[in-house]
Amino acid sequence: MNISIIGVPMDLGQTRRGVDMGPSAIRYAGVVERLESLNHDIEDLGDIQIGRAERVQDVTNPKLRNLKAVAEANEKLASAVDEVVTRGRFPLVLGGDHSIAIGTLAGVAQHYKNLGVIWYDAHGDLNTEETSPSGNIHGMPLAASLGLGHPALTMIGGYSPKLKPENIVIIGARALDEGEKQLIKEKGIKIYTMHEVDRLGMTKVMEETIAYLKERTDGVHLSLDLDGLDPHDAPGVGTPVIGGLTYRESHLAMEMLAEAQIITSAEFVEVNPILDERNKTAATAVALMGSLFGEKLV
Ligand code: ARG
Ligand code: MN
Ligand code: MN
Ligand code: MN
Repeated sequence: MNISIIGVPMDLGQTRRGVDMGPSAIRYAGVVERLESLNHDIEDLGDIQIGRAERVQDVTNPKLRNLKAVAEANEKLASAVDEVVTRGRFPLVLGGDHSIAIGTLAGVAQHYKNLGVIWYDAHGDLNTEETSPSGNIHGMPLAASLGLGHPALTMIGGYSPKLKPENIVIIGARALDEGEKQLIKEKGIKIYTMHEVDRLGMTKVMEETIAYLKERTDGVHLSLDLDGLDPHDAPGVGTPVIGGLTYRESHLAMEMLAEAQIITSAEFVEVNPILDERNKTAATAVALMGSLFGEKLV
């Protein structure tokens, strides 16, 4: 496969500094070498330039923190991703906080009639400025991609919506806000919370997910928030939630996706080396990428 890596050192979508060093931490953990060892053609396009945070003297909006800088960076990311897809390559985006999914999806979705998304995350990221308890834009990218929320976010790339609700599958959810729960019901979004993962097992969850997306989509984006994993396995994240997906379940999920050959773009987000233990979370991200891109034990 021809893979193009784009780093997005974004930390303005939430309030814990350090996640802007995620792309460096993932590169340091050997992403390029790992994927090259699997005989892929890798091109590292470097990092998207991020503006500065709002200062108190600026006109700040506590319901949409750093809106301008987040929107500007996402426009740049959308163009970069669009260009990669146009050249027939697979975009692999390294975060950075999850607000960057808005730009990734804006760049990818224009190339598909029915883009599917796997949202591998402890959270739904389905808030808008009305429902958000935090004002943090990293809790809003899935809503924005459905066309819900502030136009500065929903209109990235010049069009909206990027996704249809029936083309989304959320896996690993265990911390949903009231507004998000309502939206999931109202839009009929397919979701495997930790309850379903425990009940069915990851094999069944992935078999169902793959079958569901295969029959209705013409491409699938994997948006993997490292906080979908249990904090024991991925401690370097800004919003950890106990009771998460294990390292082993996550590898199984990636291996099944590799086998099904349905993934057409991916991003790995929320790696925060400042909160991490000896770069464990970045190393886990790279190991999961190995499985996603075809690594096998024998
Ligand atoms: N739901 C919470 C919020 O809106 C947490 C979001 C966490 N999102 C993430 N990408 N880690 O603030
Ligand atoms: Mn285009
Ligand atoms: Mn999350
Ligand atoms: Mn997330």
